[in-house]
Amino acid sequence: MKQAADALASRGFGQDIANAGLFFRRWLANPLQMGSVVPSSPALCRRIVAQTHYAPGEVVLELGAGTGVVSQSLLTAGLPPERLFVVEIVRDMADHLRDVLPRAHVIEGDARRLPALIPTEFHGRIGTVIVGIPLVLLPFGEQRRFIDAIEAVAPSRGFILYSYWITSPLPYERHGLVATREAWTPLNFPPASVWRYTRRT
Ligand SMILES: C[S@@+](CC[C@H](N)C(=O)[O-])C[C@H]1O[C@@H](n2cnc3c(N)ncnc32)[C@H](O)[C@@H]1O
Repeated sequence: MKQAADALASRGFGQDIANAGLFFRRWLANPLQMGSVVPSSPALCRRIVAQTHYAPGEVVLELGAGTGVVSQSLLTAGLPPERLFVVEIVRDMADHLRDVLPRAHVIEGDARRLPALIPTEFHGRIGTVIVGIPLVLLPFGEQRRFIDAIEAVAPSRGFILYSYWITSPLPYERHGLVATREAWTPLNFPPASVWRYTRRT
């Protein structure tokens, strides 16, 4: 197992071996929850950062932060850490995130419970919601729970979702959403797209 993680990391898919090893172990433990064997690549992180916007007084919310590669890219691009909230369901991952993002808000919990997890003073003050959770692998009703939770804390903002799916990873019309494929990169394992979903008006 460690050899496989080391091999993937040495091919540039993991930002460091410890991150790739933790990620791969969690994938072995629960492949549906992880949705990927390795963290997102720098190329994918750059594309996600380019789609992330926040106005003065707003924060950024990342769901399913894993080992924190997207989070770290956001901070490197200039997002002040106190304006970043990350939610991660796996305790080991959340502990790791607290180590690597000491000044950001790291919340261990299930993103379906966002209204209870995010302090109420930040509800309605979220510039961008970034979804790393593999919603494509979930049945419609489960996807709906995440979408409703996002809408409750970031009304009318929509969200961005990265995915390895060629077509939209969500059945957006059934969800009452509009979908835009904002970016794609072959420099990820597997190649990935960044989708934006907003409410249909
Ligand atoms: C594909 S990984 C993405 C990790 C990281 N953002 C990256 O790009 O490398 C999906 C992450 O979502 C987390 N996750 C899955 N279900 C979740 C839930 N209900 N609430 C919060 N996090 C969840 C997993 O534990 C995992 O870390």
